[in-house]
Amino acid sequence: MKNLNAQYRDTIEALSKQIPFEPEICLILGSGLGGFAQKIESVKSIPTASLPNYPKSTVQGHQGYLHFSKHANKKLMIVQGRIHLYEGYSLTQCVLPVFIASKLNCNKIILTNAAGGVSPILRPGDLMLATSLNGISVKKELAGLINLANLDQKNSLLNFPSKELNEKIKAAALEEKLALQEGVYWLTKGPSYETPAEIRMIRKFGGDAVGMSTVHEAFYAAALGMEVAAISCVTNLAAGLSENKLTHAEVMETAERVKLDFERLVKKSIELI
Ligand code: HPA
Repeated sequence: MKNLNAQYRDTIEALSKQIPFEPEICLILGSGLGGFAQKIESVKSIPTASLPNYPKSTVQGHQGYLHFSKHANKKLMIVQGRIHLYEGYSLTQCVLPVFIASKLNCNKIILTNAAGGVSPILRPGDLMLATSLNGISVKKELAGLINLANLDQKNSLLNFPSKELNEKIKAAALEEKLALQEGVYWLTKGPSYETPAEIRMIRKFGGDAVGMSTVHEAFYAAALGMEVAAISCVTNLAAGLSENKLTHAEVMETAERVKLDFERLVKKSIELI
């Protein structure tokens, strides 16, 4: 199992000097959902560019900050500016925010993302709670980073995603009277969106929504003993399921349209956790 302690010693050291508290819940914000960080009271916002060895975020809609924030008396670390495989970063770099959260003794993580709808019941603008995650395309690389056999032995994957967290998120949706779909999130590594043939395959194999993040972060968090949940904002129909050509602009537009629902769902979930 590759140990990130040596690689990120300076990062953790620089961060530890600045943090106002150890977070209870980590939240990673997906494409177009970064504005959520500004809707929560920040105690301290640390630009990731100020941290040694922290990868630079290159994607529009992903500004690099670790916000140490509070909501409903819960201490949060909100990661704005996710690190993606399709930016050319390694798996080790992509899971750095999870590693940081774990180093700061945080044991719950909610991963959020923009995703393409593969299931015919999903429409752009829907919110979907992940009931399971498919990371078959990164399993081999993950094996270098975490001991997957050990992960199975520790039974972490028996409760993955966390039933307890998922129940809270469903209860939050009910309280907020928000429709919350459920389904399987499937990781593709990018860098381009999928082809219609790939989407047909993903559908045949049980995928409901597709995106380029979350799953490796989720596996890594589980390996570190964290409770994991994942929420997708369905921003578009997956490739081949609509007449329109899929663009990043469409993803951002839909995320903008649903952001208020997303905010209500996440805020209420944090209150209930
Ligand atoms: N595919 C992959 N990633 C995505 C998509 C998609 O259709 N939409 C938003 N992120």
